Amino acid sequence: MFHVSQKGFHGIMEIKYYGHSCFSLSLAGKVLLFDPFIRGNELAKHIDIQQIEADYILVSHGHQDHTGDLEYLAKKTGAMVVASWEICSYMEGKGLSNCHPMNVGGKRAFDFGSISMTFAAHSSSFADGTYAGVASGFVVEGDGKTVYYSGDTGLTMEMKLIGEQFNIDWALLPIGDNFTMGAKDAALAANFVGCKQVIGLHFDTFGYIVIDKEEAIRTFEEKGVSLKLLKIGEQFTI
Ligand code: NI
Ligand code: MN
Repeated sequence: MFHVSQKGFHGIMEIKYYGHSCFSLSLAGKVLLFDPFIRGNELAKHIDIQQIEADYILVSHGHQDHTGDLEYLAKKTGAMVVASWEICSYMEGKGLSNCHPMNVGGKRAFDFGSISMTFAAHSSSFADGTYAGVASGFVVEGDGKTVYYSGDTGLTMEMKLIGEQFNIDWALLPIGDNFTMGAKDAALAANFVGCKQVIGLHFDTFGYIVIDKEEAIRTFEEKGVSLKLLKIGEQFTI
């Protein structure tokens, strides 16, 4: 399908949640998959990885819980991998040829819209110890909407810059605490980026990040932000 997007036209974006920090965003006829980690996730056993489609795979950092199914799905779908230079180099070493390297602060136009790579306060290496560049997040603009995925990160003042640079409609933020922001800091992060609608990620997958979901929703409400928690496999229109 040929999809024309015009300035000022607010199209429909579909989000599908695959568990942990893995989700896809469909816009302008393209599917962007983020941080593929399905087969290693005990909570995502009902997801059939064979059914997952992607035109682009965006990778925030090298950790296993974000890259576990990257090689497999990139090879299966032929999707373009968008990630740090170091992640692209590593994946090229695994036989992938369709990689687009970026680094923090950079913006690039693609056929669906644009991707900006943002700062994340986190570490980044592969399971074998290989350095994976700096951790990052992404702002995706397309179809008249702007979505921010922070990646794994603590709360940082840099998020205020994102609020200055973009009009964020939806933010996808980690809320599991311990390795990333918890609900309280993530609600502050939403205010920093100027966004009132958040989808929570990176919670409940393993023991360190099991949270009280009702309490997380209340914590966001207190900051005037709505927190949406998707079921694994759920599709949601924004
Ligand atoms: Ni991580
Ligand atoms: Mn993680």
